Amino acid sequence: MKFIQSLLRRGFEPMEAALSRVFTPAWNPFYQLGAIGFFFLWIVVASGVYIYIFFDTSIHGAYSSMERLTYDQWYFGGVMRSFHRYASDGMVVVMALHMLREFALDRFRGVRWFSWATGTPVIWLVIISGITGYWLVWDQLAQYIAVNTTEWLDLLPIFGGTIARNFLTNTGLSDRFFTLLVFLHIAVPLFLVFTLWIHIVRVSRAKVNPAFGLMAGITLMLLVLAFIKPALSQPPADMALVPGELAMDWYYLAFFPLLDSWPGNLVWAFAGIATLLLMVVPWLPRGRRVPAAVVDLDNCNGCTRCVEDCPYNAVTMMPRSDGKPFPQEAVVKPKLCVGCGICAGACPSSTPFRRAVEPITGIDLPDRPIKVLRQDTEQAAARLTGPSSILVYSCRYSVAAKDLENSNIAVVDLPCIAALPPSFIDYVLSRKLADGVALVGCPDSGCYNRFGVEWMKDRIDRKRDPHLRQRVPRDRIAALWIGRFEKAKAKRELQAFSQHLAQMTPAHSEEDAGVKRV
Ligand code: HEM
Ligand code: SF4
Ligand code: SF4
Repeated sequence: MKFIQSLLRRGFEPMEAALSRVFTPAWNPFYQLGAIGFFFLWIVVASGVYIYIFFDTSIHGAYSSMERLTYDQWYFGGVMRSFHRYASDGMVVVMALHMLREFALDRFRGVRWFSWATGTPVIWLVIISGITGYWLVWDQLAQYIAVNTTEWLDLLPIFGGTIARNFLTNTGLSDRFFTLLVFLHIAVPLFLVFTLWIHIVRVSRAKVNPAFGLMAGITLMLLVLAFIKPALSQPPADMALVPGELAMDWYYLAFFPLLDSWPGNLVWAFAGIATLLLMVVPWLPRGRRVPAAVVDLDNCNGCTRCVEDCPYNAVTMMPRSDGKPFPQEAVVKPKLCVGCGICAGACPSSTPFRRAVEPITGIDLPDRPIKVLRQDTEQAAARLTGPSSILVYSCRYSVAAKDLENSNIAVVDLPCIAALPPSFIDYVLSRKLADGVALVGCPDSGCYNRFGVEWMKDRIDRKRDPHLRQRVPRDRIAALWIGRFEKAKAKRELQAFSQHLAQMTPAHSEEDAGVKRV
């Protein structure tokens, strides 16, 4: 499995880097595939409502009503039809890419199983919505789908061979059955919206709207497609004829040719096993359970920063339970915590400067507490013997910075770059532990822990608590937002930073630098 993930990452990463250069990271479609999926869904819903106004839900009127919409109202009705078709296709594409990317990034294990497991039924619901949609047009493609689907469904004991009988002759078809199909084509997408809501319920600040420029670009693309290749029907269905050459929609109907060549029961077995396998992927093989963050009430003043910064809604505020004069205290829900440490990086008590007492903070990771981070920092600094030395704090989901260690580069790894309290940068520079500090994290807008890079940038720019103190010389800090496979680029940038440091005066301490304190 690791091999497949690595292979996929090697495919995604260069594409993402290229798209970031073209679109800028904030508009990179790969960083907002889920949000684009939602955007397509809203287009499908809105265009679907318009089409429904003109749609005749009878078996004899359906085809002609779609023809009238397409040709008599080509300037709007026809465009809406194309929007409906192509946005549905787009949804399948982004859903597949989104799923593959989450898999490649290994963002489906542990407590993240929930989004993955609720994503699996979403695939079925999207496909069923599409198939029932094609059926409604009642052209020869619909006829082909109707016959194949009903024969396939009839293999299930609940139907017992009763549905396919409706499609033997033209007279066998009833309006009632057709109304049921219309109902399904509306009810399934509604259920899809509900399932998607559950899908993202555990994700804090889930990105459900893509960047404005992307929305505009997608709409324009659909509009162009609507005019150069409008969505059309095929010849009307006729149960007396066997449909000839059909233009297939491979996004939704890809498995229909399988129904032609494989026995239906085998296709059921295949679909069932594939769904089951997909569902249990988060537990295959069982990974190490990351211990959840823990709160130390003696060091918690109820400031809510951890709640605001946690990307997984894993911290809540509750009424104070220890009699301290603060109204609230932080409480971690272990079942939601991925152990990213961003909360520890946000807590005002997370400081390496305390010497009299052990550095214990309000909220911390049991397997990598702040006091160990300070020890690691000091040990790494002790390894620096060369000139223009750089202490690197590196997210373990970015490039393997450890491989770049030498006499003037020492690395401390972190579960996320935002797990680093900014006071550590101040500590390293003011205590002259190194000449510069480099922060290495995932590509901008593509953070493994969703907001780590954004929060860290905002802390340094003093836009988000905890701020990096004003006195810390910013020209001694370098940030490398970089992919896992960009080792050569990381090496180049660290060398350039080292040269930049060499041209500066030696690192200053808070006493001798004369830098203005905030
Ligand atoms: C059209 C269908 C889908 C839509 C619109 C959608 C949308 C979303 C959105 C908006 C998020 C939150 C992203 C963020 O803000 O970071 C998300 C997360 C996620 N999705 Fe989907 N999704 C879809 C299908 C799927 C499928 C089929 C799977 C896999 C079977 C899946 C797996 C995941 C996972 C694992 C996460 C959580 C990532 C994390 O914890 O960081 N999604 N999805
Ligand atoms: S480590 Fe902290 S920020 Fe990360 S998921 Fe757990 S509670 Fe949230
Ligand atoms: S950030 Fe620290 S002090 Fe603030 S509520 Fe969370 S644990 Fe308490």
